Amino acid sequence: MKTKNKILVTSALPYANGPIHLGHLVEYIQTDIWVRFKKLTGSEVVYICADDAHGTPIMLKAKEQGITPEKLIEEVKKSHEEDFRNFYIDFDHYSSTNSVKNKELCEEIFTNLNHSGHISQKVISQFYDDKEKIFLPDRYIKGTCPKCNAEDQYGDSCESCGATYSPTELIDPKSILSNTEPKTKDTNHYFFNLKDFKDYLIAWTKSHNLQTPIRNKLNEWLNESLNDWDITRDEPYFGFKIPGEKDKYFYVWMDAPIGYIAAFEEYSEKNNKFKGIWDKEEEGEIYHFIGKDISYFHALFWPSILNGAGYRTPTGIFCHGFLTVDGKKMSKSRGTFIKASDYLKYLDPEFLRYYFSSKLNDGIEDIDLNFDDLTKKINSDLVGKLINLASRCSAFLEKNSELMLSKDLEDEEKFKIFLTDINEIKNFYEERKFSNAISKIMLMTDKANQYINEKKPWSIQDLEEVQKISTQGLNYFRTLVILLSPVMPDLQKKTEDMLNEKDLVWNDSLKPLLNKKIKKFVTLKKRIQKEDIQKLKDELTNINIKTNVEEKSMANEIEYDDFSKIDLRIGEILEAINVEGADKLLKLKVNLGDLGDKEIFAGIKKSYKPEDLIGMKTIVVANLKPKTMKFGISSAMVLAASSDGEIIVIEADSKIKNGSKVK
Ligand code: 2FM
Ligand code: ZN
Repeated sequence: MKTKNKILVTSALPYANGPIHLGHLVEYIQTDIWVRFKKLTGSEVVYICADDAHGTPIMLKAKEQGITPEKLIEEVKKSHEEDFRNFYIDFDHYSSTNSVKNKELCEEIFTNLNHSGHISQKVISQFYDDKEKIFLPDRYIKGTCPKCNAEDQYGDSCESCGATYSPTELIDPKSILSNTEPKTKDTNHYFFNLKDFKDYLIAWTKSHNLQTPIRNKLNEWLNESLNDWDITRDEPYFGFKIPGEKDKYFYVWMDAPIGYIAAFEEYSEKNNKFKGIWDKEEEGEIYHFIGKDISYFHALFWPSILNGAGYRTPTGIFCHGFLTVDGKKMSKSRGTFIKASDYLKYLDPEFLRYYFSSKLNDGIEDIDLNFDDLTKKINSDLVGKLINLASRCSAFLEKNSELMLSKDLEDEEKFKIFLTDINEIKNFYEERKFSNAISKIMLMTDKANQYINEKKPWSIQDLEEVQKISTQGLNYFRTLVILLSPVMPDLQKKTEDMLNEKDLVWNDSLKPLLNKKIKKFVTLKKRIQKEDIQKLKDELTNINIKTNVEEKSMANEIEYDDFSKIDLRIGEILEAINVEGADKLLKLKVNLGDLGDKEIFAGIKKSYKPEDLIGMKTIVVANLKPKTMKFGISSAMVLAASSDGEIIVIEADSKIKNGSKVK
């Protein structure tokens, strides 16, 4: 049986080893708004998600807490679901990748791929921690970079020079689990033959709904040679066993996307809906909302696996950028890592939904959360203009007509003209250009307020006239709330309650509500108080202090003479630019006063946007021997601290003159 106009939407599955934070919420809010909009405008949509419950970090975290991984993922799932509920993220079904259904599907898909010749086996040599008895993922090994000799680098890449390498190339490698030197050990692994799908992927990326920068990136990857993908992890591991193997598991990134299908199947079986949407023959659409960082998995591996196993592939993949807070990457040490539950203690969840919408569009640029901007948008636009419109109009109705709406509008023609923008807003939502939708809604709100200001109901004696004007004003408000309802479902609910209505849909925005008694106005949304933001910031700083007191072991002692050889100077960053081809590096031009300018390559890209560094004063090792790197010569070094995975450049007082000696 063919199904029509059925849409399955997913957001990426959050790992079950940590709390939901505001960075995650960009995606869930974006997806939820789109799904709500599609539902309000008559599409049949199912929105599915699940916890991503497998992998080494989850297994180790459970061990650290002295509980089983099953217990850990159960607890985390509960807290994730609570956070999502509180932010009005309305999944039709929320599952876990550690489900019976997912296990069955992983086995089926793997067996299928194996029979069609898309799986191969190879013995590989991997680092093994003999003390902890575990093969080590690259991120669990640290050592000295083989290219630039920087110490304390991860097993896959160097944050200092940007080189990528295999962990076996590291100098003096250490397992971060036991601090012992890992051994290499042979192990047989299964690989998914991605190469088999090169032609298919070239055609797929052309014909499917992808954003241009993502399509370009995929084409770049497709022009390079595609490596077969290692889908095996050895015991101990928390995941699903590979069929026919005793001590080998599917890599978490293999079973996670299959979790989309499994979660959907659970929903579909229970609700007897949308059966077979993953069948090639079925009609329907499937959209994945994801962060741009995981596009390789979703747009190369995933369509290939689905195609190879005989499933239909997604109709579109919609990527978004990352969240920065006050212009900086989210980081615990800077007090900008904001958990959903911390935000909720002080601020209304719909304010974040509104704010993100006012910034989100269909691109993949990062978006910034700036608390002053948030306060301004909520207090002056949302509360000052929109909510105030309702409060003014219902006050007149209460005073003059016992909260009874008039039988006609005061100026029907004007109301019709007001409605002409709605189609444009509908298109903006459809195309995920939410910021355009919000701007347009706010322009309409201005028009509505202008209407009241021009009519001046407070100066009119004719009560019937006042009733009509207030009814028209309140209908403007009602229409605007419906247009905003994908973003602010709770405001819609409260408005419905005030207007004695229920389950308003998109087209209700076109029909005015007349000749009806409504309820007395109650405050729908309160302004943000400065203290609330301050309290949230204080709480984050406290967390930061707690994190920073965790002492790390000290490096070996040095003589005073060793230290005095280092010429530390105050430098001002004049220029900062990305280095083409280097994932981690920024190229800086730093002024050292009388010593002139120095060009420095610094591995700080993951924590800074180049423009944020310009004008910053920092401390520089001025007499470091120039070092020739792949990208040029680095003539000095800026001091930076690594904290909670972030690299923070040491800032100096801006009053100190460039080139001053640091003592
Ligand atoms: O990057 C992440 O957070 C992954 N847990 C996303 C998985 S999405 C899907 F493929 F399952
Ligand atoms: Zn290096």
